[in-house]
Amino acid sequence: MGDVAKLTLPNQNQAIDLPLLSGTLGPQVVDVGALAKHGYFTFDPGFRSTAACESKITYIDGDKGILLYRGYPIEELAEKSNYLEVCYLLLYGELPTQERKDYFCNKIKIHTMVHEQLSHFFNGFRRDAHPMAVMCGVVGALSAFYHDSLDILNEKHREIAALRLIAKMPTLAAMCYKYSIGHPFVYPQNKMGFSENFLNMMFSVPCDDTQPSPTLSKAMDKIFILHADHEQNASTSTVRLAGSSGANPFACIAAGIAALWGPAHGGANEAVLAMLEEIETPKNIPKYLARAKDKSDPFRLMGFGHRVYKNFDPRATVLRQSCHEVLNELGIHNDPLFEIALTLEQIALKDDYFVEKKLYPNVDFYSGIILRAMGIPTNMFTVIFALSRTVGWIAHWNEMIGEPNQSINRPRQLYTGEKDRKYTPIEQRK
Ligand code: SDX
Repeated sequence: MGDVAKLTLPNQNQAIDLPLLSGTLGPQVVDVGALAKHGYFTFDPGFRSTAACESKITYIDGDKGILLYRGYPIEELAEKSNYLEVCYLLLYGELPTQERKDYFCNKIKIHTMVHEQLSHFFNGFRRDAHPMAVMCGVVGALSAFYHDSLDILNEKHREIAALRLIAKMPTLAAMCYKYSIGHPFVYPQNKMGFSENFLNMMFSVPCDDTQPSPTLSKAMDKIFILHADHEQNASTSTVRLAGSSGANPFACIAAGIAALWGPAHGGANEAVLAMLEEIETPKNIPKYLARAKDKSDPFRLMGFGHRVYKNFDPRATVLRQSCHEVLNELGIHNDPLFEIALTLEQIALKDDYFVEKKLYPNVDFYSGIILRAMGIPTNMFTVIFALSRTVGWIAHWNEMIGEPNQSINRPRQLYTGEKDRKYTPIEQRK
C-alpha cells in the first residue's frame, strides 16, 4: 500500500489507514472514502480543504500564482494562441495540428446560428431584464431544441453538444444585448473569426457595414482565453454536480451560468466597475479601504482576493497590460476608472490588512475596464465571462461523464436540528 494518513477515531481501538493520493502537480489528497463505513463523515463547509474530483484539465498554484491549461502557462496561451485553439486544447487535451484546428474551427462555424424559434424566447423578457437572467433562460432552453444529441453516454453526442454550446454562446450573448437596446439581432458571419464575429453581432447595425477593429477583436479574444477555465471554481463545480445526475449538457451549462452570476464569483467584474464609479476619485480610496477592513461593514473590495490565489492572479497581470494597450488603441488617455484602479492596486498592495490576508487583484479587477472601454455595457460583463467559461464547463462535464465509475454527487451533512418530535394538534400549539 502507498502512503497513508493514520486517523484514530474514538469508536475504534486502532487507527485507520486513509490512502494518500498524489497528482502530477500540487498537494497530495487524503482519500477519506472509507470513513463512512466507520460511522463518520468529513466536514468542510465551503470546501476549503476538499478536492471534489480528479482532473487533467487545469492546474492552479495559488501561492505561486500559476495557471496551466492542460499544462500550458496561461501567459503563453494569452500571448501566442487564440480562443478557439484554447477551446480545442481544453476539450481534447492537446494543441491541434493545422489540419485539426481548421476542422474544429469549421465545425464551430457551422453551429453558430440558433434555431429561429429560439429568438422568440427573448420577447418574453422585459427589455431591461438583466442579460444574465436571459442567458439562464435561453441556454437552458437549448435542451428543448436538440433531442438528437442528448444521450450523454454517447461520446459523439457529448462532442456535438460541446461544439453547439461553444458556437452558440456568442450568438445568444449578442442577442441579449441587441434585445436590451431594441436593435435587430445580427446573424453570425462565417467569414469572420470567433471574437470578431462576436463583436460584429454585438455592435453592427443593418444600415452600416463598419467592421470590428482587429485590435479590439484581439483584445476580446485574449479576454476569452483568460476566462476559459479555472479548475473547480463554484460554477464549474455546479456544472459537475448537475451533470452527475445525468442532466443534459444544456441544462448543466445553464446551472453554471446561474452560479457564475453571483458577485463573489463571475458577477464581480460588474461589481468592480460599480465600485470604481462609486469611489469616483483616488482621494476617496482611503475611505473605501477602511470600509473593506471594517468587519461591521459588508463592503468588500471587489476584484480583490481569491479562494486559491494568495499571490497575483496571473490573469490580472495579463489584463492590466491589456488595459494599457486597449485604452491607448482607443485613444483613451487618463481613463479615470483605470487611474483609480491602478492607484487602488498600489495602495492596497502596501496595506497591512491586504498584505496579511494575501488579498491581490483577481481576474475581475481589470477585465471590466477593458470591456467598458470597448463599449460593452457593465451588465454584459458576466455574460462575456459565461461565454468564455462555457468551454471550461463543458470540458469538465465531459471529463466527469467519461469517468468509468462516475456516480451522482450526493454530499452528507452535520445535522444540528430538532430530534424526533410528536405531532401536536393545532389547538394545542402555542
Ligand atoms: C472569481 O474560484 C475561482 O477560481 C473563481 C474565479 C474563476 O475564474 O472561476 O477565479 C473567478 O470568482 C474571482 C473572484 C471574484 N470575486 C471578487 O472579487 C469578490 C471580492 N472577493 C471576495 O468576496 C473574496 O475574496 C472571495 C469570495 C473571492 C474569496 O473568498 P474566501 O476564499 O471565502 O475568502 P474569505 O471570505 O474567507 O476571506 C478571507 C479574509 C476574510 O477576513 P477574516 O474573516 O479572515 O478576518 O479576507 C477578507 C475576508 O473578510 N477578504 C476581503 C476580501 N476578500 C476577502 N476583505 C476585503 N475585501 C475583499 N475583497
